[in-house]
Amino acid sequence: MSKIEIILIGAGGHAKSCIDVIEKQDKFKIAGLIGKREEVGGKVCGYNIIGVDNDLPDLFKQYKSAHISIGQINTDIRNNIYSQIKKIGFSTPSIISPNAYVSDHADIGNGNIIMHGVIINAGAKIGNNCIINTKALIEHDVQIEDGCHISTNSILNGNVKICTGTFVGSSVCIKNNISIGKNSVIGMGLSVRQDLDDKSRFTG
Ligand SMILES: CC(C)(COP(=O)(O)OP(=O)(O)OC[C@H]1O[C@@H](n2cnc3c(N)ncnc32)[C@H](O)[C@@H]1OP(=O)(O)O)[C@@H](O)C(=O)NCCC(=O)NCCS
Repeated sequence: MSKIEIILIGAGGHAKSCIDVIEKQDKFKIAGLIGKREEVGGKVCGYNIIGVDNDLPDLFKQYKSAHISIGQINTDIRNNIYSQIKKIGFSTPSIISPNAYVSDHADIGNGNIIMHGVIINAGAKIGNNCIINTKALIEHDVQIEDGCHISTNSILNGNVKICTGTFVGSSVCIKNNISIGKNSVIGMGLSVRQDLDDKSRFTG
């Protein structure tokens, strides 16, 4: 099977973790990264930074797949770029670490990255353009809507719902059946035992 050539959008620290996940499987060939103007010409883990956001329509003539390798607390940045690349026409395959466990009964959308050590159990549903970061545990029937970042080592217990654009910090533990509103931020290391409204900023 020929490999899918893919452009990574974002050339910072999270891009390094994405590259590591991609290199552990035979599915993709990294064509290069998109960075800031001053980063162009540099390299990340040996891959060239080949352009900036504005070059994406031109790059689409040659490369048809892209992945957003920006890992921010502010999910708006990733979500705006996702809309742009879908408008251009890029395909956005989900990237799943061979060191993750994803149930056959889970449903994973497009443009996601499921990183090393993640467990996603039966009945879980993940939308599009999400980061499920290293060692996160997504229990049965959890729903994660589009454009969320579920950070390292976090635990989302059964039936939790995370609405669009929400950031869940590292090592957060969310009680079963809890619902978190859209565009919220949950600070690292916290336990969440109550539902949170849209745009919540939860620091305990
Ligand atoms: C929630 C967060 C985004 C807030 O960052 P910030 O806007 O810079 O705010 P500050 O750090 O100035 O904190 C504001 C207040 O909230 C408190 N606070 C922030 N994060 C907290 C946390 N996780 N637990 C408890 N209190 C917290 C601070 O002590 C501070 O209280 P004060 O006003 O009484 O001094 C940040 O603390 C955080 O948790 N980031 C996530 C890091 C992470 O998980 N990264 C993983 C990427 S994979």
